[in-house]
Amino acid sequence: MVGYPKIRPRRLRQNKNIRDAVAETKLTHDNLILPIFVKEGISKPEEISSMPDVYRYPVGDPLIKFVEGNYSKGIRKVILFGIPSFKDNIASSAYQKDGVIQRSLKLLKETFGDKILLFADECTDEYTSHGHCGIVNYRGKQYYIDNDESLKVHAKIALSQAEAGADVIAPSSMMDGVVGAIREELDRNGFTDTLIMSYSVKYASVFYSPFREAASSAPAFGDRKSYQMDPRNANEAIKEARLDLEEGADILMVKPAHTYLDVIRLVKETYPEYPLAAYHVSGEYSMIKAAAINGWLNEKVAVLEITHAIRRAGADMILTYYAPKLAEWILEAS
Ligand code: PBG
Repeated sequence: MVGYPKIRPRRLRQNKNIRDAVAETKLTHDNLILPIFVKEGISKPEEISSMPDVYRYPVGDPLIKFVEGNYSKGIRKVILFGIPSFKDNIASSAYQKDGVIQRSLKLLKETFGDKILLFADECTDEYTSHGHCGIVNYRGKQYYIDNDESLKVHAKIALSQAEAGADVIAPSSMMDGVVGAIREELDRNGFTDTLIMSYSVKYASVFYSPFREAASSAPAFGDRKSYQMDPRNANEAIKEARLDLEEGADILMVKPAHTYLDVIRLVKETYPEYPLAAYHVSGEYSMIKAAAINGWLNEKVAVLEITHAIRRAGADMILTYYAPKLAEWILEAS
């Protein structure tokens, strides 16, 4: 039939230049946030067995070199996770002036100044013997995570991180009111310009398992279902995001990312006026890595597809252990 079909979507897919011109989603270095584990008591980087190619860094030269290398590839944002050598019931190693995360923040701030935007994960799980994201109390023989007692500790940790040089505090505990408690403490101490990126919509997910090995932060008893969200819920994400915004969050986050693209889209459509981050978490990383190591799929193509999907869903920023690789792949493509 001559002249049929008239409308041919394939015209726009003929070659790379046309496809690039009409691509709806772009991925640049500005979209990436690199997570880094810093550990007390080691002298050289330690590979994390469940996360091949990801390392724990000592506070010192290897950390500086790693950040410098990524800076030269275009990475401008890093988020730090501390692994202390001392843990107790109240997370006191999380707010010491010379704690592992405070020393790391200080070192990076002194070395890089404002060249790097420094995020600090704010939580208690890596710093407590029980591994929970708050203070554990008992009613009779029944333990529970004491929300309001936890807020005091979270505010204290956040302040010590801001004092050490963090530009952005990222509370990941899912305690009710934690953003407001931190905002108030920061403001009271003159840190009115310190940003808060809240892990607003954080699910109780099995995909954090490799992270818990990496940070030795698996709960010693129970699970996180009384504070992290139920994976069966999507609308509840709107409530969590709204509360954090009312309490003063500057940036929202959905976590995990790849498994929750619908939630990313929902939060972005509900609050388009707020920047949204998404966390491509450890288990999501390790799944691709394992398949790639086995030769079951092409790692680069898989990671680029998934990362673009997270952007397409509505995330402005992506926290990903693939940031160092993505930074190279973006440079190659440009
Ligand atoms: C809590 C925290 C966790 C992650 C980031 N912050 C662990 C948890 O909630 O159990 C998980 C990140 C990942 O899996 O990559 N401090």
